[in-house]
Amino acid sequence: MYNDNFLATQLIERQEINAFRQLQKNIGLIDFCSNDYLGIATNNLLHISNTYKTGSSGSRLLAGNYALIEEVENIIAQFHKTDASLIYNSGYDANLGILSCVPQEKDCIVYDFLSHTSIRDGIALSKAKAFSFLHNDMNDLERRLQQLQLHRTGEIFIVTESVFSMDGVCCPIEILVTLSEKYNAHLIIDEAHAIGIIGDRGEGLIQHKTLHEKVFARIITFGKALGCHGAVIVGSQQLKSYLVNFSRSLQYTTALPEHAVAVIQKSYEIFPTLGAERLHLHTLIEVLKKTMLPYNILPSPTAIQAVIIGGNTATKQMAIKIQQQGFDVRPILYPTVQKEKERLRIVLHSFNTVQQLKQLLQVLE
Ligand SMILES: Cc1ncc(COP(=O)(O)O)c(C=O)c1O
Repeated sequence: MYNDNFLATQLIERQEINAFRQLQKNIGLIDFCSNDYLGIATNNLLHISNTYKTGSSGSRLLAGNYALIEEVENIIAQFHKTDASLIYNSGYDANLGILSCVPQEKDCIVYDFLSHTSIRDGIALSKAKAFSFLHNDMNDLERRLQQLQLHRTGEIFIVTESVFSMDGVCCPIEILVTLSEKYNAHLIIDEAHAIGIIGDRGEGLIQHKTLHEKVFARIITFGKALGCHGAVIVGSQQLKSYLVNFSRSLQYTTALPEHAVAVIQKSYEIFPTLGAERLHLHTLIEVLKKTMLPYNILPSPTAIQAVIIGGNTATKQMAIKIQQQGFDVRPILYPTVQKEKERLRIVLHSFNTVQQLKQLLQVLE
């Protein structure tokens, strides 16, 4: 009736490699899966008055700009010790928005091979030439930069994540800064999984290392530790002005409504104060690291802990076994990650107890 048979082939291919995806409802298992690291969403900490408007009625360039969104952008810029910030509807939009318009045809983008899909999609929309470097491999990055230097026609952008979404590992930010200075390149860093978690006030990896003045742009998302929705690009006033003029995922979409922005404001009041929650997360990380498991765990100092099982089928089976014990742990399968790197992504939260974590780990032992 819908004339949709042409969709079947690729879906069958997905089933054949055991990577068919279905939407799963949360059935009340203990959460070791969500990105709500600090429990802000779980504990409903962002209640605000219901007098805020629920629709913005237009793009930021038309009816969708209003006093509160500008006020919150100023608060965020101040918190992140930068000149300006620009709110996007999501982290996906922010990455698309900056990468599609800032690097020009004569420019080059060098990005970490394991960068998030929103980074890759943004790069795909750009006219600049793009090259990946091996994951977190600064020698490979430098080799690339040396090659580019020889035939340089424009600007060079280095793009990566401060905490990688699928393995929790941090990027070597000090070396990235050194290389960006040596080769006069611009750093664009996605802090989606660092914000709220790294730094005494959850300010993210770059500010924590006092390197914020060395980074051209930071992408900060609100949908993870901050417990709400949307994202922001922080950088110079000139960058903001450029994005307002050229960034299509900002221009051609309805802006976030007042209600969503007031929630973001509330999160910026709350998450810096959650020091005890960040401390508890570190206790959980220590417990996990001290447990001897018959699997390789990636060296992550963050809430995301990747246990490499290998193979879609084996990884799925292990996830089911853990879920049957009452813990919500999800398998991350090929093609989301490389073959043989299929993994369980165990996400730790401030609301998980040490005992719950130990029980979960027992299933793996
Ligand atoms: C590293 C990274 N960047 C960007 C995004 C996209 O953010 P959002 O969920 O706000 O679209 C995600 C989330 O999946 C992510 O993990």
